[in-house]
Amino acid sequence: MYMQGERVICGSFGTRFQQILHMDRIPDSKGKVCVTGAAGFLASWLIKRLLLSGYHVTGTVRDPGNEKKVGHLRRLEGAKERLRLVRGDLMVEGSFEEAVMGCDGVFHTASPVLGRSTTDPKGEILQPAINGTLNVLRSCRKNPSLKRVILTSSSSTVRARDDFDPRVPLDESSWSSVELCERLKIWYALSKTLAERAAWEFCKEYKIDLVTVLPSFVIGPSLPPDLCSTAADVLGLLKGETEKFKWHGRMGYVHIDDVALCHILVYERENAKGRYLCSSTVVDNDELASILAARYPSLPIPKRFEKVDRPYYELDTSKLKGLGLKLRSVEEMFDDCVASLTEQGYLTATTTTTTTTTSMLETTD
Ligand SMILES: NC(=O)c1ccc[n+]([C@@H]2O[C@H](COP(=O)([O-])OP(=O)(O)OC[C@H]3O[C@@H](n4cnc5c(N)ncnc54)[C@H](OP(=O)(O)O)[C@@H]3O)[C@@H](O)[C@H]2O)c1
Repeated sequence: MYMQGERVICGSFGTRFQQILHMDRIPDSKGKVCVTGAAGFLASWLIKRLLLSGYHVTGTVRDPGNEKKVGHLRRLEGAKERLRLVRGDLMVEGSFEEAVMGCDGVFHTASPVLGRSTTDPKGEILQPAINGTLNVLRSCRKNPSLKRVILTSSSSTVRARDDFDPRVPLDESSWSSVELCERLKIWYALSKTLAERAAWEFCKEYKIDLVTVLPSFVIGPSLPPDLCSTAADVLGLLKGETEKFKWHGRMGYVHIDDVALCHILVYERENAKGRYLCSSTVVDNDELASILAARYPSLPIPKRFEKVDRPYYELDTSKLKGLGLKLRSVEEMFDDCVASLTEQGYLTATTTTTTTTTSMLETTD
């Protein structure tokens, strides 16, 4: 049985998250999948979506006994019956073996998300991202049930380069320049670029079906009670800080629920292949600030940002749209983000919106 245009209501944020899923088919039974880095911002939302879709999920975390970090996962709908949390550390060889064994699909999202402030980029970012990805893939290779691996990469693997024509939107054929990333010490983009490249090489050699998702900067509600670094940057912006966002200059943004749906879509669609950019809109800081200031007049949104030298670029997301996913607008993603930050007590006495929704480099998207 296949269902057309299934209406899905996702969670405690009520009608905000009602959306028509533009998937052609929802199979009768769902299998077993593994999500690495389960307690993270994106992975938590992905697990919520997978559980709502009926999957059995094994999530890996560094410390399954840390209730503060995993409690929100255990409280998800369906978690009691269909979520198992096991230990997995990117830096411990073989530590994902138990988690991936017997799974049809593996969503590898775990990767360090750090800004510029690292004194040991090799140890803190590059090794866990690159060697950690290969560590997970080596375990996947031993799993006879494996059908497909979905790797969470990043749009920073596409746009960190200085040799493109700004009139031509960047698509999945573009790769960030390793030389530029090294020269400018853009460790996050370098880690994601080298990790994705390593994954493609490994999967080609060992004939593993790999699909990669390349989200731009993810905006939306945070299920983990402690904000991850990117969600904390967004909170800072909404409180009037410019320090982190000034580095965005120009940036693509995407709703966290769309990123989760994209992961599931490219896992389920047999004909999904290669890389998928996942981004709604690319905007300059000033444009973003004016949208937000008009929408949330009671928040101290910054009026101007220090100018940084960033090339103009657009992202071509027609490949993902071709699979039928509709991406939500900047207004919708920030409405949901502001509502959730307010609900969690990070923002107080805010006016979210009175209107109807109508809808480079150093940053960690
Ligand atoms: N947020 C964005 O705007 C954005 C955009 C594009 C792509 N992405 C990608 O999305 C993925 C998730 O990022 P996020 O935004 O959700 O950030 P996050 O909340 O910081 O999640 C990162 C996850 O990686 C795990 N991790 C880091 N080092 C690890 C290690 N040595 N062993 C095991 N796990 C480790 C963390 O585990 P702990 O909880 O134990 O620290 C955490 O669960 C990353 O691959 C990131 O590159 C994010």
